Amino acid sequence: MDFQHLSFPDAPLIKMPPPGPKSQEYLDFQSNTEGAAVSYPKGLPMALHKAMGATVMDVDGNVYIDFFGGAGVMNVGHSNPDVKKAAEYQLARITHALDLPNPARRTLVKMLFRILPPEIEKVFFGGPTGTDAVEAAMKLAKYNTGRIPMISFEGAYHGMAVGALSLSSGLQFKEDFYPLLPEVHFVPYAYCYRCVYGQKPDSCDLECAKYLEHVLEDPHSGVGKPAAIIVEAIQGEGGSIVPPDGFIPKVREICDSYDVLLILDEIQAGFCRTGKMFSFEHTGTVPDIMTMSKALGGLGFPISCIAFKKNLDTWTPGKHIGTFRGNVMAYAAGSAGLKFMFDHNLAEHSANLGQTMLSWLKEIESDSKIIGEARGKGLMLGVEMVMDKDSKDPAPELAAKVRSICHRHGLLIEIGGHYNNVARFLPPLVLTEELALKGIEIFESAVRTVEESY
Ligand SMILES: Cc1ncc(COP(=O)(O)O)c(C=O)c1O
Repeated sequence: MDFQHLSFPDAPLIKMPPPGPKSQEYLDFQSNTEGAAVSYPKGLPMALHKAMGATVMDVDGNVYIDFFGGAGVMNVGHSNPDVKKAAEYQLARITHALDLPNPARRTLVKMLFRILPPEIEKVFFGGPTGTDAVEAAMKLAKYNTGRIPMISFEGAYHGMAVGALSLSSGLQFKEDFYPLLPEVHFVPYAYCYRCVYGQKPDSCDLECAKYLEHVLEDPHSGVGKPAAIIVEAIQGEGGSIVPPDGFIPKVREICDSYDVLLILDEIQAGFCRTGKMFSFEHTGTVPDIMTMSKALGGLGFPISCIAFKKNLDTWTPGKHIGTFRGNVMAYAAGSAGLKFMFDHNLAEHSANLGQTMLSWLKEIESDSKIIGEARGKGLMLGVEMVMDKDSKDPAPELAAKVRSICHRHGLLIEIGGHYNNVARFLPPLVLTEELALKGIEIFESAVRTVEESY
């Protein structure tokens, strides 16, 4: 599929090193007027003017290749013309409807049922952001089981409201806000590069999943029977971590054995990001409850949704409400986005281009002093940076330097991972091979520059 016409033709184009003077003015205004928790401009100092496909232009006229994709939101590309048209149509009709039925809502629900597993027969729209879906999923699990404990995984990110934050593992986000929800327990994810059991993927016996089973089985584990286990089938913010094939099926099996619900969080990995519509499709696993957001809104219109098995639909009207129970603009744009994904076989493009990019990254890894591991699936890729390949000491400062050099040379990337040492790529899925190659060349050159000065 040729997506070239969707992006600016001349990317990357750096007219002046960012932040240019106009960007600087915006940044100064922002830091004088907005709260200090604003964070992305610290890593990517610039103000945005417009964006197309897999490219973004700042207010100084610099054009960047976008490997960031608005944190994994812009799967169908910025300003996707088909999706824009659908949004314009909707804008002229109705834009807010609470949870009253309307044509846009019905169309999206019908399209969702084309892509959800047949076992999942109910959807529910809550508040506008991914966090809201996680809150709703947890409430539904607790409501149905009458249990309080939850199990989550090391490296998990599920959002920022108290419930979702309690399920997230990053201490930098939570330690100033205790107490959070009680009885949330964390167990190791299958993070093979840093296996806590000292195993290698080809010889391991899924010790991490066995530990999860032990926690549920042993009356002295200290962990009460949970309402649900929540997990990302491929971890995003944790550092683009792809577990071995058997891991998620084993978690499903354990949930079944111990009568615990399984929540799969597809907020970041869903909607063709990893080469399938949902990342759990790689594993043959079906959740009891799943969460969706980010790319569901088509062009970044905020929306979140949970989908679940019918037998869990026991709650009564008003048990979970809010002013924004879905978003009509997002329904319209989301449906058009899904249609674009089908019509252009975006999952396959994501799988193939992701594979190509990963092979380029593996080549860079092979003779780099600071790349511990390049990994990922589809267009959810990660490059873990270390001070030394043997010690694997994390190198967050080097990762930050690489991001900054990439930015100055026309490439936007994200940083994540347990130690903030993973360069993360979540480009719009309409990225072309030509732009991908240019982006990887900028990335490689940034890595070499950092290596030489280190
Ligand atoms: C897997 C996952 N779950 C939940 C969230 C929270 O979504 P939001 O930031 O839209 O609240 C994120 C955000 O990055 C995520 O990656």
